[in-house]
Amino acid sequence: MKEVRTVARRSGLLAATFGVTTLAAVSLAVACGDALEVDDEEDVGLVGEAYGKHPEHRHDDDCYGKHPEHRHDDDSVVRALEKKIREGRHTFRYETFGDEAFWGGKLGLHKAIAGEANGGIGPGIGPATALALGLKVDVEALPQSLQKQLRRGRVDLEDPATTLALLKLNAVVGVTGFFDGSGTLESIGIQCALCHSVVDDSFAPGIGRRLDGWPNRDLNVGAIVAAAPDLSPFTDLLGLPDDAVRNVLNGWGPGKFDAFLHLDGKATRPDGGPAAVLIPPLFNLQGVGLMTWNGFSGMSAWVPLVINLEMWGQGVFSDRRLADETQFPIAAANGFSRVRHDPDRVTPKLAALLTYVESLEAPPPPRGFYDKAAAKRGEALFTGKARCSNCHVPPLYSLPGHASVPAQAIGIDSFQADRSPNRGYRPPPLRGMLTRVKGGFFHDGRFATLEDVVDHFDQHFTLELTRRERADLIEFLKSL
Ligand code: HEC
Ligand code: HEC
Repeated sequence: MKEVRTVARRSGLLAATFGVTTLAAVSLAVACGDALEVDDEEDVGLVGEAYGKHPEHRHDDDCYGKHPEHRHDDDSVVRALEKKIREGRHTFRYETFGDEAFWGGKLGLHKAIAGEANGGIGPGIGPATALALGLKVDVEALPQSLQKQLRRGRVDLEDPATTLALLKLNAVVGVTGFFDGSGTLESIGIQCALCHSVVDDSFAPGIGRRLDGWPNRDLNVGAIVAAAPDLSPFTDLLGLPDDAVRNVLNGWGPGKFDAFLHLDGKATRPDGGPAAVLIPPLFNLQGVGLMTWNGFSGMSAWVPLVINLEMWGQGVFSDRRLADETQFPIAAANGFSRVRHDPDRVTPKLAALLTYVESLEAPPPPRGFYDKAAAKRGEALFTGKARCSNCHVPPLYSLPGHASVPAQAIGIDSFQADRSPNRGYRPPPLRGMLTRVKGGFFHDGRFATLEDVVDHFDQHFTLELTRRERADLIEFLKSL
């Protein structure tokens, strides 16, 4: 009996670890007759450390498959996954990876936000200006009293001090303020959520509950960066004077960012237009081989690049392709192909973050967003006469594999394609069309509407779609 109780206690711990019900664990441990030999209860807390020490883990054990730990293995996997997704979500929303050393420490962006009256410089950035720049406020981080004051119009939305108060509440989506003991803003860092989340506007425009994965097509990243007092990290890298860098940044416009500027130094397209691309949605990416409009690399390679080279987080990262002086002269000259920070603040967060991003799915289109009967006809065209599914393979709606297509295959210029070692455009997974509408379609938003996209493909592939067929195809796209 004593032994049973010991087993029960220990199985309980095991059960907690593996997410099985205690009672079932006990009865099977007893039925199989092996008291668990656990040297130290603390070991049991960590799956990794405990692995291989328990008889349950020995694959040659006669009891293999009979223990609840095995039978309920699926549940433990599901539970571990859920935990990982939560961890990843936290990272996506709140983790700066130490990038405040860049945004605050080097650019001094926090000073421009605080303004002279609050220990910074210049007029400062009040919430009204911040919202106009596309920044979003998480209503769930606002105490009820503040929500009430906001509703009654008793909050000064022009005063940078209000922005500081919001930062203290951790209410500005994708931005974290770092304050000293006296409440002065001393640095600022950014997160994935800055560009890849919006809010549902449930409280007011720009203020609501977080919607992760939606591209923030209101966000004027360039104008925000150009508000920083010191752009020397960029002028140094690009070899351009300060005003030229500010012009480039201010030329991007809302919803766009240029991830390759400080890798290849191409500030404008050959036609003189801005080289920035639209922030993409992060939906249904599981199974999509290549990331970015130009298919730069897979998800697990792209995300550490973003953290280390775009957000300027402090981690470890390698990509030898960035040592190519012809394609990436600036990256090559600055050793961006191999980044090392000690301590590494990125790699320990990576797995959970990737799990979260890969778990994001497109919101279903709202009632009335599209015509069902027309969409059904459009689907038949998509996979039939219009040949869209050659590249947008359902249900992924991208091309599986290490797959991008040459620019001429889709009838557009190759500028952005040539900035990737893969020299092509990756067929975007088309789900969540609702979230793609603002800012236009294709990497640079060159097509304002779905009509324009379908007309383009109709001409380029000489599909000879009728007016009604084109309309049906659009209804199908809207249903995704
Ligand atoms: C400053 C804005 C910004 C931030 C911050 C940012 N991203 Fe992005 N992200 C972009 C842009 C713009 C692209 C498209 C780049 C391109 O195609 O050239 C992109 C592309 C991606 C893609 C590829 C999506 C696809 O369909 O091709 C993934 C995945 C991604 N980002 C994840 C993240 C994660 C995770 C973080 C945080 C660690 C993050 N991003 C931070 C702007 C941002
Ligand atoms: C040869 C491969 C290929 C075929 C065939 C193809 N597409 Fe695409 N599609 C792409 C690529 C690549 C892009 C991204 C272009 C870019 O990055 O600018 C794209 C972009 C799009 C977009 C814009 C997505 C966004 O968010 O900007 C839509 C919509 C779309 N395609 C629909 C269709 C439809 C409808 C058809 C059939 C008439 C079709 N595609 C046929 C490769 C293809």
